[in-house]
Amino acid sequence: VTVFIPRDSAALAVGADAVALAVRQEAQRRGQAVQIVRNGSRGMLWLETLVEIQTPQGRIAYGPVQAQDVPGLFDADWLQGGSHALCHGLTEEIPYLKNQQRLTFARVGITDPLNLADYEAHGGLAGLRRALSMQPMEIVTEVTDSGLRGRGGAAFPTGIKWKTVLTSPADQKYIACNADEGDSGTFSDRLIMEGDPFTLIEGMAIAGLAVGATYGYIYVRSEYPYAVSTLNEAIQIMRAAGWLGTDVAGSGHTFDLEVRVGAGAYICGEETSMLESLEGKRGQVRAKPPLPAIVGLFGKPTVVNNVISLATVPIVMAKGAAHYRDFGMGRSKGTLPFQLTGNIKQGGLVERAFGLTLRELLYDYGGGSASGKPLRAAQVGGPLGAYLPESQWDAPIDYETYAAMSAMVGHGGIVAFDDNVDMAHMAQYAMHFCAVESCGKCTPCRIGSTRGVEVIQKIRNGQQREQQITLLRDLCDTMLAGSLCALGGMAPYPVLSALNHFPEDFGVTRPVTS
Ligand code: NAI
Ligand code: SF4
Repeated sequence: VTVFIPRDSAALAVGADAVALAVRQEAQRRGQAVQIVRNGSRGMLWLETLVEIQTPQGRIAYGPVQAQDVPGLFDADWLQGGSHALCHGLTEEIPYLKNQQRLTFARVGITDPLNLADYEAHGGLAGLRRALSMQPMEIVTEVTDSGLRGRGGAAFPTGIKWKTVLTSPADQKYIACNADEGDSGTFSDRLIMEGDPFTLIEGMAIAGLAVGATYGYIYVRSEYPYAVSTLNEAIQIMRAAGWLGTDVAGSGHTFDLEVRVGAGAYICGEETSMLESLEGKRGQVRAKPPLPAIVGLFGKPTVVNNVISLATVPIVMAKGAAHYRDFGMGRSKGTLPFQLTGNIKQGGLVERAFGLTLRELLYDYGGGSASGKPLRAAQVGGPLGAYLPESQWDAPIDYETYAAMSAMVGHGGIVAFDDNVDMAHMAQYAMHFCAVESCGKCTPCRIGSTRGVEVIQKIRNGQQREQQITLLRDLCDTMLAGSLCALGGMAPYPVLSALNHFPEDFGVTRPVTS
């Protein structure tokens, strides 16, 4: 009997290794044959460790399983899908999973992350095979036509970025994958790297063919050690199988790559800081222009894309641009892996086409707050994203609708708060975060964020409230308009959204304007 026990960090953190050991020992003790596959996470994090048993009807899910539950599960005959308090029936029928549209995450949790044959059997390498038969501009056109936009958060059209690199003549070009997933409440990059690393590598190889780059780097944050080791193993496997190297699958094309580990700074997720860091320098922002697409890593044209953008490319190439473009709404095509965290009952990953609402995510998937108290706010798009009050939860999530509300979809992270939250405190936290993580290169961010913390403290203390709120708005204007990069330029979003939607937490009855 095949038993699936995740090797994802989220499962390991709650004892998945101990569960795997207990299953092996208990099966041995009872003389029952089991084959344990360490898969990626299905993304239903509140059920981790989620153990699945392969049966003729499909996989049966049990969770959250702890090592001490294992003897009881054997007593309940779980290898034959027996009933037990922890049993959720067929995994694919669990509404949280059933009601998703998994394209980028189609294989995560299903395959063995380091089994290339399993990857191929589930549609892997079809995209790269097709790309190998195409001209570079044809690949770029296919990606452009799919409507795929940068999933790191900025939503710049991926195909257009690639075209800039393709049409920039140079003796050397690079693919740099941004895996410095620093946004609060986000983990989709990690789930892919640990659960389906081949798809990211395949996406990078396709990008290399498309723009004429022969080498790539994956810049992974140091907090993700399992992602690093999984990727390194996956790269070796792909290389040994001839999918990386000087003659990719006998095509005469060269593409190889390596993993680089970051040193723990939020700003290294900003693309130009990341390039500095990859070059061995201190992670500090470079002024743009020139764009990295023209003058990037080591001064060469470079594709800088987020993990999810690159990991989505194989399915675009395998199924065609039209298939991907059919999902989504308006100019936001395809799907986004949303990540539900914070005070939420059912935290996890939800891949859905653009166009669903925050309310659906918070309640239909998330099940409301973990505390049982009413939800009051949700921050969407990381620590630089706006706080959305309930009046905005029914807007369809797409890049343009959110921008029109002075909010952003970003990398798809959602952090929920119940009615215990103090929004003035959260606004102050945003400024504090900016002050701590500022690279120090420009004044509005370096000085402004520290002044912002002080001004909000005065407001919270009730000192000249209306005057200080006016000052805070002026400061936010300066940061928005005068910062060199998104850290200082976007920190005002959470601050202003808190002030505009929750003025009572700042001790005023209406949002004071400047
Ligand atoms: P941006 O709008 O300046 O640039 C977007 C991308 O398009 C960049 O790669 C840029 O080089 C490229 N680009 C622009 N014009 C181009 C052209 N004509 N040809 C080729 N490439 C072109 O945004 P930025 O500053 O790179 O990113 C900000 C975003 O990052 C925020 O919206 C936020 O959501 C996100 N973010 C994500 C984090 C995460 O952990 N994933 C952390 C912090 C911020
Ligand atoms: Fe550095 Fe902040 Fe300026 Fe960005 S906005 S360049 S992080 S000082």
